[in-house]
This record gives sequence, C-alpha cells and structure tokens, in this order.
Amino acid sequence: MEKLYTKDTQAIFWNNNTSAIQRMLDYDYTIKRKKPSVAAIVAPTSGSKFEKFFYGPDEIMIPTFKTTAAAKAAQPQADVLLNFASFRTAYDVTMEALDLGGFSSIMITAEGIPERLARKMNEYARNKNVTVIGPATVGAIAPGAFKIANIGGTIENIVQSKLHRTGSCGLVTRSGGLFNELSNIIAINADGIAEGVAIGGDRFVGSVFIDNLLRMEKNPEVKYMILLGEVGGTEEYKVIEAIKAGKITKPIIAWCIGTIAKHFSSGVQFGHAGASANADAETAAAKNIAMAEAGMFVPESFNALPNKIKEVYEKLKAEGVIGEIAEPDMNVCPSVRKSKEFICTISDDRGDEATYAGFPISSLATPDTGKGIGDVVSLLWFKKQYPKWATDFIETVIKTVADHGPAVSGAHNAKVTARAGKSVVESLVTGLLTIGPRFGGAIDGAAEYFKYADDNKLTPAEFLNHMKKEGVPIPGIGHRIKSLKNPDLRVEGLKKYAAAHFPSTSLLDYALTVEQLTTSKKENLILNVDGTIGILMVDMWRALGYSEEEINEFISSGTLNAFFIVGRSIGFIGHVLDEKRLQMPMYRHPMTDILYDVQEAEKI
Ligand code: ACO
Ligand code: LMR
Repeated sequence: MEKLYTKDTQAIFWNNNTSAIQRMLDYDYTIKRKKPSVAAIVAPTSGSKFEKFFYGPDEIMIPTFKTTAAAKAAQPQADVLLNFASFRTAYDVTMEALDLGGFSSIMITAEGIPERLARKMNEYARNKNVTVIGPATVGAIAPGAFKIANIGGTIENIVQSKLHRTGSCGLVTRSGGLFNELSNIIAINADGIAEGVAIGGDRFVGSVFIDNLLRMEKNPEVKYMILLGEVGGTEEYKVIEAIKAGKITKPIIAWCIGTIAKHFSSGVQFGHAGASANADAETAAAKNIAMAEAGMFVPESFNALPNKIKEVYEKLKAEGVIGEIAEPDMNVCPSVRKSKEFICTISDDRGDEATYAGFPISSLATPDTGKGIGDVVSLLWFKKQYPKWATDFIETVIKTVADHGPAVSGAHNAKVTARAGKSVVESLVTGLLTIGPRFGGAIDGAAEYFKYADDNKLTPAEFLNHMKKEGVPIPGIGHRIKSLKNPDLRVEGLKKYAAAHFPSTSLLDYALTVEQLTTSKKENLILNVDGTIGILMVDMWRALGYSEEEINEFISSGTLNAFFIVGRSIGFIGHVLDEKRLQMPMYRHPMTDILYDVQEAEKI
C-alpha cells in the first residue's frame, strides 16, 4: 500500500458518535470530497435506519446497521473501519471485522484494551495484511483526502494547520495531542502534511513507526518525514535499522520526548501506557542519540524542533525536491445550520419538472412512454424499476380488486355515506375505513402467516394448529360466497398469470397445500383473493431479489393492503358517483331487517 487513504476512501464508523462523524463530514465538505467519508454507521442498539448529518448547508442521511457484517454487506466499498467501541468491546469488534475481511485498515480509539488481547489482535491483523492504527489513538489523516474523526481539531484549526490539502511531510507520532501541535508547527515552518498517523499510546499498538514510515517512503507525495517518538519501547531502533539497510532514503526529522526522565532518580511513567523506559536503550535520550547517529535530523531539544523542520524543508525546496503547493478552493461550512423536519426519498419537485424516483413525470405519463401504473407504483412505493412481468402483475392486482359489487362491506358504507349528502372524498374514506382484517385488509396478514409457516417448514396441519393456538382465522382463507363449488375467478386469474410469468411461486405452492386441508373441512375455506395477492407478492419480491428482512418490513409496514386500498378506491368512487348521479335520498335501514332485543336496564 502506497497511501493509507485517498479521496475515495470510505469508512464504516462503529458507534454512533455523531459529533465525531459530523467533524468528518464538515471536513469532507470543506475539501470538496465527492462522497462522504463515512458510508455507514454500526449502532447495535439503535432502532433507526439512518442518522441525519449536515453536509455543508444541506443534510444527508448515513445508513445505520446493527452489525458490522450488515454494514459491510451494504457498503462493500468502505474498506476502513473506525472502531470507536469502548475498551471492553473494541477487541471483539476488530476481530469480527478481520474475520469478515474487506478492510484495508482499522483504527481503534479505545485506551486500555487488555495487553494480552491487544497483542493477539495486532498479530492477527498483521497476518491478514490489515493496517491497525491504535489502540489509544486519535487516528490518522491524509490531508485533502480523508480525515479520521477528531484528528486536527476544529475545522478552523484544520485550515490553519494546513490539514485541508496535501503538503509534503509524512508525520508519525505516538500522541494525538502532540500530533495536532506538530501539524501546526509544520504548517508554520513548512508546507503541511501529506499523510499523518498518531500510532497510539498503548504499549502494544498495531502499526508501529516503521510500518508507517515504510509506507510513506513509497508515497510520492511525502518528501520528508517527521518521527515524534516517546520514552519507552524500542520501535525507533527498527527505523534506524531500515535506514541502515537502505529501505528508507527520504530525510527523517526525529525527536523522542521524555528526555526530562533523566532528572528523576527513579523510572518515570508518562501519560501513555507505553511511555516508560524499561532499559537504558528505551530512554528518550538514548534513542535521540542513536537516531542522530543513523543520520536522522535530531534537534537539540523539542524547542529546537520547529527550526529543524524549517531548515530541512528550506533545503529540500532549494534542491527542487519540494515544489510550490497551490492552495485549493475550499467550501466554507455555514456557522448556522438548521436541521430539516421532513425527509423525502421518493420524489422531487425542485427542478423544472417533478420526478418520481428520479424519473420526470413526462417520461412515464403518456402511453408512448410504454409505462403504466405498475411502473409508477414500483418507483414511488419501492424506489425501483421493476421488470415488466412484475409491473404487469401489480396492474393485474389493482384491476382485479377494483370492485366486487355494491353488497360488499366497504362499497355499502361508501354508498350509505354518499346518500347522507357527504362529498366524494368523505364517502370514499368511509369505504376505505372499512378495509380491515376481515374485508380486503387480510393481505398483509396472509403474507405474514403463510411466510412464517413456510419459513418454519410447518406442514399444513401444523400450520392450522399454530393458527388455532393464536386464536385467529387464517388471513387469506375463506369467503362469504366463494367456495370450491363457486370458485373465485379473480383468484384463478392471478394464479394463471403467476404460473405463466413468475420465475417461481413457491409460497403459492405451499398455500395451495394448506387450502386443500381447509377446504376438506369446509368448502368455502378457499384461498381467497386477499390471500392470493399477499402470497404472490412475496413470491414476486423473492424473485426480484429482496432479502427476507426487506420483505418482512414491507409486510409489517402495511404495503400489501395498500394494493387493495388503491384498487378498491376506484370502485368506491364509482359507487359514490353512482349514488350522486342517481340522486339517491338518505338511506335508512329497514327496521324489519333488524332483530331488536332490548331489555329495560337494571338499576345498579
Ligand atoms: N381460517 C380458519 N377457519 C375459518 C376461517 C379462516 N380464515 N374462516 C372461517 N373459518 C371457519 C370458522 O372458524 C367457522 O368454523 P366453525 O363453523 O367450525 O365455527 C367457519 O369457518 C365459518 O366462520 P365464519 O366467520 O362464519 O365464516 P364466513 O364464511 O362467514 O367468513 C370470512 C368469511 C370473514 C372472509 C372469513 O373466512 C375470514 O375471516 N377469513 C379470514 C380473513 C380474510 O381472509 N378476509 C378477506 C376475505 S376476501 C376480501 O375481503 C376481498
Ligand atoms: C371483495 O372483493 O370485496 C370480496 O371478496 C368480499 C366479498 O364479500 O365479496
């Protein structure tokens, strides 16, 4: 790997850390990235499917998932995992991601992962060729391309520290705080950073100085490197060996902090778990001497570091190694932003012509477009372009359920309401409100229960027993007037269409075995029109490649009954208009048709 991140890098952010994610997106907007750097969020306990964030003045939605596996499956191009889990969970999250595969780097922010686990995790990642940054880090940055969470601080600080565009320094530190400090020093004394990594303060971190410096050696944008080490550990000696072996040829400015330790009589433990010398060679002073001897540019003290940077930078510039860097155009994030109240993902009326899921109305409306109501439904309800056999099926359903005469519950109510002098819309909704589990609204229930039975491989008898225990009639079974002897020809029509056009009708096939059993008990317990529609819609969605989870969601949100609502609205309106045309008077139900059984109320 030549570069850790590019302008196309996208991450999966583990934990819904909204302020850190917002900082990444503010950075993306500022540097004019084409795609947001966070493609998905893993939020195991969240019930929502997305989180809203600002992207400049606008808002965007980032999908949230309960597991890393689901996030990765949905956003396979996102090859960076930003593991913001706590120290209790971070190990498991990393190991799971390593087993899943498809990640080139994993950054772990948690401090205090047990050292035994950290070593195991780091070795596992190394064997899988995955760069681990951390644990105990603020992360890394490729200025002008990709920035992890809070590194570099606020957007104002980032721009001041020239972290908004590529410079020529490769920076590696242990500490995140000093990383930010050095970014500023480099901006003042040189031209900024090409790639920077804070490797983390724990004793056992994934990628160490040498891993990052070897990558930066290959990165053509990096012209020189700065290594800011710490007292403790021997990682700096690996860099010395690489220089001696000719594996690193770019100039390195280096300093190990913690030289103060020699003024104390006993060993000093600094803030980081790894910042304590266990041997003379691990002291900051010894490492500074060794690095200078290996040819690195080592200043007299930390205070002299800025001048050393300036000196090396000016020299490389004079030699023509470093050229001028053009300042790019940047976006400016508005300081006041208001979150939007509504979200719309199906249609857009902001252009010259409104669109249905991206299609201008004129591209669908007239017959010459070859599009019908089925296409409009597939765009506006499902945000997909369904194939012709599926849009034709949708239209077949709508036409099939448009009306079933004046005697059915809903039409009757619509007619009575119209005769009470109510308007079309009032009469229509009266009819629509009649749609429910017994009349027209059994489609979702049929899909749900038959799918459950089929998914769980229940025999028809087991299914019937199950429903008996549930205490509900099987949705989609039974009809007041239709039976084996008086078959419902609408059902026959739908079955015929499916047999001719569906790639598979496995749920219908199962439902027909159930129907055999129910009709053997009573001949009107047929698979009715609601049941046939619900079951065939599941077969359609399966053939269209929807996941079972997506189908279950369609069912639970009431999508299937909506087909009956749309279709039957046509019939209800017809009945209402019929009443109005005929100027029918108010309806009163004949008293002879009512069994009156009223007793005088008892006194309590
Ligand atoms: N599952 C199991 N048993 C049933 C079912 C069913 N879906 N429907 C009726 N039965 C049984 C009843 O338990 C009863 O049994 P019993 O005689 O041993 O007591 C017998 O059949 C008659 O019951 P009723 O409720 O009088 O049946 P009816 O034929 O009048 O009902 C109805 C028709 C309301 C459609 C009923 O079958 C039902 O509730 N089905 C489920 C809901 C449904 O699918 N509705 C959509 C119908 S199509 C449409 O509206 C467009
Ligand atoms: C309908 O489509 O309305 C019918 O199946 C219900 C009925 O009672 O006929």
